[in-house]
Amino acid sequence: MPTSLVTGANRGIGLELCRALRAAGHDVIAVCRTSTPELDAAGVRVCAGVDMTDDASVAALGKTLAGVHVDWLVLNAGILEPGGLEGMDMASLKRQFDVNALGPLRVVTATLGCLSKGSKIGIVTSRVGSLGDNGSGGMYGYRMSKAAANMAGVSLARDLAGRGIAVALLHPGYIRTRMTGGGGNDEPDVAARGLVARMNELTMETSGQFWHANGEKLPW
Ligand SMILES: NC(=O)c1ccc[n+]([C@@H]2O[C@H](COP(=O)([O-])OP(=O)(O)OC[C@H]3O[C@@H](n4cnc5c(N)ncnc54)[C@H](OP(=O)(O)O)[C@@H]3O)[C@@H](O)[C@H]2O)c1
Repeated sequence: MPTSLVTGANRGIGLELCRALRAAGHDVIAVCRTSTPELDAAGVRVCAGVDMTDDASVAALGKTLAGVHVDWLVLNAGILEPGGLEGMDMASLKRQFDVNALGPLRVVTATLGCLSKGSKIGIVTSRVGSLGDNGSGGMYGYRMSKAAANMAGVSLARDLAGRGIAVALLHPGYIRTRMTGGGGNDEPDVAARGLVARMNELTMETSGQFWHANGEKLPW
């Protein structure tokens, strides 16, 4: 039975990813700050108390998982804070960078010993972090942090190629969650099914590419 680790597992897309992976027969390690009744009922192993911005708590997760083999590492936790050019709030930009760009790297470095040939990493970024797709500006902290996460993912793809570990950068779609205030085109379970499909398709040949959950290849 494959083992998957999902961050941001307590709600939204992460919760649905846990459910979809369970339905696909995976053992799921569900990482979050605080669990929810929905996650507790999902039949997964919950690792609570892990804050993506806290080096010590992410390092402790790595220690807890020592000796565990992880087939899929799905880095989904993220935040979006509003903020345009007027009244630029640098503290907000830093917060988003810490969670969205540094968070995935913290988890990868802490759990690298759990990954080996054939393991896959999926980083849930956003097409909002695409330079080529930026037709409307604004959202500085979110856009910049997601673009940085994409760059981290490409470097990881290159650095981990020799170990046989593939990396995908993944956009879930515009999905109705707390992040979007309930707006969006689809429910989180639709995104989760698409993300699982993209992870299934991921190979060493496609490592380092940027995909929409619906299968569309996205521009950087
Ligand atoms: N929804 C969309 O349309 C959309 C579009 C593009 C990309 N995305 C990306 O998809 C991912 C999931 O988003 P979502 O829509 O499911 O949002 P969400 O419902 O707001 O969920 C965000 C998740 O991230 C976790 N998280 C936030 N800050 C954290 C921290 N410091 N440490 C640990 N966990 C933290 C949250 O946990 P807490 O409950 O502890 O806060 C929650 O589990 C994000 O990376 C987001 O950027 C979403």
